[in-house]
Amino acid sequence: MLVIVKDSYDLMSNEAAKIVADRLRKKPNLVLGLATGSTPLGLYKELIRMHREEGLDFTKVTTFNLDEYVGIPPEHDQSYHYFMWENLFKHINVDPRYVHIPMGMAKDVDLFCEWYEKRIVDCGGIDLQILGIGANGHIAFNEPGSSLGSRTRIKTLTGTTRMDNARFFKNPNEVPKYAITMGVGTIMDAKEIIMLANKASKADAIKASVEGPITAMCPASIIQLHQTAFVIVDKEASTKLIGLYNDSWESKVF
Ligand code: PGA
Repeated sequence: MLVIVKDSYDLMSNEAAKIVADRLRKKPNLVLGLATGSTPLGLYKELIRMHREEGLDFTKVTTFNLDEYVGIPPEHDQSYHYFMWENLFKHINVDPRYVHIPMGMAKDVDLFCEWYEKRIVDCGGIDLQILGIGANGHIAFNEPGSSLGSRTRIKTLTGTTRMDNARFFKNPNEVPKYAITMGVGTIMDAKEIIMLANKASKADAIKASVEGPITAMCPASIIQLHQTAFVIVDKEASTKLIGLYNDSWESKVF
């Protein structure tokens, strides 16, 4: 695990984009794991800029998103399908046939989850997974208490997460109660991980993940066991850390 502290959100986002672009240039058919939420928006903006101005090519890329709400159709403006198309996919040259986002409207959710796991394996596994982190230490919708070996499955959202996400819904009661999410074990199988966090509200979660005990009560803490994980944070999210950390990945060789 390599922790990188950047001075601002934009610098954090650009650092992550540099890694994604580097891996993509080395392997045009990269299998990319993607996240929703406000955190990766700056990364997606920079990838779009790189696509437009530097010709960064996504035509051979396969994507897998971490999660999706159950019971919300893809065209709903709060679905993660909608989020991904609005904030990334429609601005780059990704092939829609290679895009995978959990189906929140699946008739048989368990069967869908099994298929999703198999599909990841059939595509060669995730090369690089982008991750946010919840203020309570969740990754994707793996809330505190989630098994650290878990696979893609349906999860009940905690009150904290529903409250955090209520800002995106017109009426807080509309926030779904369930989601399909990759498991902690699924995420850990990615060959590389980039976990991003910005703002002071994430400082405790980053401290617990990077320097705390590895525990299901903070699912993100499992990242300490990943050998090729980057944790890239802005100054505000780094304030509770006691270790001394890098400000760039380029000088580091794994
Ligand atoms: P956020 O959510 O990026 O909107 O802060 C991150 C998460 O909950 O994983």
